[in-house]
Amino acid sequence: MATKKFNLVIIGGGPGGYVCAIRAAQLGLSTALIEKRPTLGGTCLNIGCIPSKALLHSTEMLHFAKENAAQHGIKLDKVSVDVPTMMKKKDSVVSNLVKGVGMLVEKKGVTVFKGTGTLQDAHTIEVDGGRKKETIEAEKIVLATGSVPSSLPGIECDGKDIVTSDEALSFDKVPERLVVIGAGAIGLELGSVWSRMGSKVTVMEFLPRVAATYDADVSKAAERIFKKQGLTFHTDTKVTGVDKGKKGLTVKAEAKGKKLTVEADKVLMAVGRKAFSEKLGLDRAGVKVDERGRVETDHRFRTNVENIFAIGDLIKGPMLAHKAEEEGVALAELIAGEPGHVNYDVIPNVIYTEPEIASAGMGEDEAKKAGKKIKVGKFPLSANGRALATDATEGLFKVIADAETDQVLGVQIISAHGSELIAAAVAHMEYGGSAEDIARTVHAHPTLSESLKEAALAVDKRALHSL
Ligand code: NAI
Repeated sequence: MATKKFNLVIIGGGPGGYVCAIRAAQLGLSTALIEKRPTLGGTCLNIGCIPSKALLHSTEMLHFAKENAAQHGIKLDKVSVDVPTMMKKKDSVVSNLVKGVGMLVEKKGVTVFKGTGTLQDAHTIEVDGGRKKETIEAEKIVLATGSVPSSLPGIECDGKDIVTSDEALSFDKVPERLVVIGAGAIGLELGSVWSRMGSKVTVMEFLPRVAATYDADVSKAAERIFKKQGLTFHTDTKVTGVDKGKKGLTVKAEAKGKKLTVEADKVLMAVGRKAFSEKLGLDRAGVKVDERGRVETDHRFRTNVENIFAIGDLIKGPMLAHKAEEEGVALAELIAGEPGHVNYDVIPNVIYTEPEIASAGMGEDEAKKAGKKIKVGKFPLSANGRALATDATEGLFKVIADAETDQVLGVQIISAHGSELIAAAVAHMEYGGSAEDIARTVHAHPTLSESLKEAALAVDKRALHSL
């Protein structure tokens, strides 16, 4: 059989890879996409962002039914959870979405190969589909194989007792005691899911605060809210090992110079992810990786090998689906001779707890560290009418602006629907908007979004609805 040849072959069908493939096909390149999972969508759609959002939504409704319905005069006498049905609902969300993406990609003219792609040299890729192996040739190759969960030295994730997010999205019953190692996005999201389901959740975090990439005041406010929801936190706590005994697991840690142990039925390892660059044949093609296994690229996503590129979690930068997507689009455009570009200064970041924590641009702490002269405006949701009417008063909006030019440098939000609300801030920042621009933009009343306007007004100490 003749070897199939393409202008562009992409290895990895996650949000970075499949979006890159669609854009490349739109631009007229003959494009192939190789994916080893039975479905496209990568970690995000199959075992990450999407199933976790489905479970967060289900458990938010559960929380409402158990804790809040009564005060609205809604009587739900006996609320119980059917875990298999909840999981089935989550699985159906995933399967509908990945089917849709699969169809979309093919209809856009992309040829999909199911199997594991390995570089044989700088232009040849072998696709091992189990029963069938084939070799394809590419003028240009994009590596988009994503990332896998990391663990800690000496702690092996067995997928049963000590798990990663891969398994914590599919427990068949509610663990009585769940220890979460790491208070980042995964730890806080899945910790919230299982806490709402009835687990006693203890989160152990190495750094002095949770959600540590956000400003200290934002992260402290978030911690207070999660504590009220029933989560227990041990910050400044370095987990050193997990012992398995007859009655369960013992998580061992050093907390502020003292030894700490916490008993658990399951342990969720949520200490970050690492680039998945192994077994890709990089050495055969001569592609360089850095000390953390990430493929080294320049600002145009070029590796050290002329015709090979890389995007997404596999390269430096935040491990976010939307960052990977934007890189995929920009790279396809660059390859097609167009001016593709990603604005790394304004990439939104969200933790999908309730309320959600969202940010874009520079935080106050980061701006100060960088020696910038800034003005900061804050507005509490307790002063927002829509928040009062919808039980959403927990949280705050914060606008960080340049003290001289008034340009918005960053926005941080703790709010219900924070993931949606950050989009307006991103748009203002994308166009180089000032705090004054936000303050003079008419916002519908009553909405949570008015809090962004009020925080922008607070930058010049003229908020209308707070002191
Ligand atoms: P993360 O990097 O966000 O958080 C890991 C946390 O573990 C850090 O706070 C770190 O200080 C802590 N840690 C490290 N070693 C520790 C130790 N020995 N003991 C206790 N704590 C320790 O990583 P996470 O939450 O696992 O997420 C992985 C990646 O996936 C991240 O890049 C994240 O941005 C991304 N992701 C994004 C989501 C979103 O956008 N909502 C959702 C899920 C994941």
